[in-house]
Amino acid sequence: MKPVLLRSLEVPSPLELDSNENPLGPSRRASKAIQEALSRVNRYPERDCFATEERLARLHKLSASHVALGPGSFGVLRLLMEACMPAGSEAIHAEPSYPMYRVLIHKVGGTPVAVPLTPDHRHDLVAMGHAIGPATRLVIICNPNNPTGRMVSSEELDAFMDQVPPHVMVVIDEAYYEYAEGPELPNAIDWIRKGHNLVVLRTFSKVHGLAGLRIGYGVAQPQVAAMLRQMRGPFAVTSLAQVAAQAALDDRTHVAAVRVLNEQVRSELCSALDREGLHYIPSVTNFVMIRCGGDDVSLTERLSEVGVRVRPGTEYGMRGWLRVTVGTSEQTQRFVSALLTCLDWSLVRAACP
Ligand SMILES: Cc1ncc(COP(=O)(O)O)c(C=O)c1O
Repeated sequence: MKPVLLRSLEVPSPLELDSNENPLGPSRRASKAIQEALSRVNRYPERDCFATEERLARLHKLSASHVALGPGSFGVLRLLMEACMPAGSEAIHAEPSYPMYRVLIHKVGGTPVAVPLTPDHRHDLVAMGHAIGPATRLVIICNPNNPTGRMVSSEELDAFMDQVPPHVMVVIDEAYYEYAEGPELPNAIDWIRKGHNLVVLRTFSKVHGLAGLRIGYGVAQPQVAAMLRQMRGPFAVTSLAQVAAQAALDDRTHVAAVRVLNEQVRSELCSALDREGLHYIPSVTNFVMIRCGGDDVSLTERLSEVGVRVRPGTEYGMRGWLRVTVGTSEQTQRFVSALLTCLDWSLVRAACP
């Protein structure tokens, strides 16, 4: 009889395709910077994150006064909500979108106002504009949107921004921006340059592969960025996160490689889904929403039993769908064969006749 330990070693490690992480990990430069900084973790990090904020300001052709670093873009959004949303105020967001918006809004005593996506799974900015009322303090636009992987156009964003009243702050969450970068993607930071009251959130968790270090930032008008920095307090971002982020920004080759791989594997995934007659939402990001019909929670449990973790659409109010992260080519092949084994085809046919 084989020893228990040996048997457990034979089980392939689970494929983690449920959190839109980067399968290539951080750049070699970032890893080296982390290694070098390890010997100094007995020291506090740079108190006010100034060097990293300066570096980001140069990247975005703004002054450092426009940038506020934080423990993940989620951490920055939390500070913004605490600052801008008195109890009883409202924040508008799309539905389905990133579920943590609703959680955070409730946490600060606010009321979430959910505006359904368009039938083609994109933000309905016209309806979101109509939903603005006297109690609205924030409008959150997730662009590209998690979980549908679709984006709003520059034209739509321009028309929306022109009608936002001054008491409302617009937040554009660009966690997946780098995957979609291209002429059709609106450049929200341009609106900050034009003096509009808007916060753009970016993260090092996705294309830079540094999710575990918790580092992200907001770009905003100087008075808003100053408020975020003040609320963040001293020593809020670890030294390892700061050095890794700076090194990651210096390694454009790695970002390019991540994007190329993502596009290639996403296209392989979509071709495999097309071949099998499975419906999915065309995505500009590193994840794809797939129509599986029926009980997506049971399906994701079956997939998990064969070592593949994906996200059930039900978590986003999309029953009958599942969201899979684009991994490497080999990981994606493994996902597709597991999916084909676990799917209940009668439910798929009922959902997509
Ligand atoms: C749309 C969106 N915004 C923000 C985040 C959180 O990012 P961070 O790791 O920077 O807190 C995520 C994480 O998955 C996300 O999908």
